[in-house]
Amino acid sequence: MEIIRAASELKTRIAALKEAGKVIGFVPTMGALHEGHLSLVKEAAGHSDVVVMSIFVNPNQFNNASDLERYPRDLQKDAALLEGTACELLFVPSVKEVYPEPDQRVFDFGDLDKVMEGKFRPGHFNGVAQVVSRLFDLVAPHKAFFGEKDFQQLAVVRAMVRQLNYEVEIVPCPIVREADGLAMSSRNLLLSTLQRKNAPQIALTLSESCNFAATHSVAETKQQVVHAINAVPELEVEYFEIVDGNSLQAVGSWEESSYVVGCIAVFAGEVRLIDNVIYKKSMS
Ligand code: PAF
Repeated sequence: MEIIRAASELKTRIAALKEAGKVIGFVPTMGALHEGHLSLVKEAAGHSDVVVMSIFVNPNQFNNASDLERYPRDLQKDAALLEGTACELLFVPSVKEVYPEPDQRVFDFGDLDKVMEGKFRPGHFNGVAQVVSRLFDLVAPHKAFFGEKDFQQLAVVRAMVRQLNYEVEIVPCPIVREADGLAMSSRNLLLSTLQRKNAPQIALTLSESCNFAATHSVAETKQQVVHAINAVPELEVEYFEIVDGNSLQAVGSWEESSYVVGCIAVFAGEVRLIDNVIYKKSMS
């Protein structure tokens, strides 16, 4: 695996690979890699000839300065984890390489980014759209791989791709979980021992709520999930919404949509964790 820091060098390498007919698969990350990221690399390798990963902690998507400062960074460890995987090029740009000029673009995603994460992290998705678009310009991948844990991010990235006419196939990848069910996240590293012990209750409650949902209304299911998680020491629900999986707008009944997803954000102390569960997804 080769580490590339300059955008100009990356562009030259990618152009040569494309000239040779290679399909480029791209995995954008902010580092602090874990098995979840490695599963994206694996998925990318199955769908492309050359896997490129980026590690860039994007300042534009943090609406909280201390969150940005606390975000775990350890390039040596990340690079060591990637050795022996299918990742061939690791792009680690500076802020200046990604944003030679400040990115002033303001995206309009309609109601998609007004709810859930967007409501509690104003400006977050505009920053995500900015950086993913910049990275797509630099990497120019054929395919890009995103985890379904960041359910709303996937929807926003798809909308951005449509708006800017990128010819990139967005490939969603399933959530990877620890043995106890906790969704893998770089932020898990920041949990105290007690928080780490209790955090799997989020996934457990979501999973149990699927049975509960079979005999209860959307409102009752929401209430049950929030109540159960808030009863766990150190955990506090920021939001739990049951939404249409495409529009991300709240549904009032199970019949309202054929694709229904529960999306949650929970504070474990200062650490913000997200997860989701699919209640219903008809194949038609
Ligand atoms: O999901 C992430 O790690 C980030 O939001 C992304 C997509 C790499 C953009 O900075």
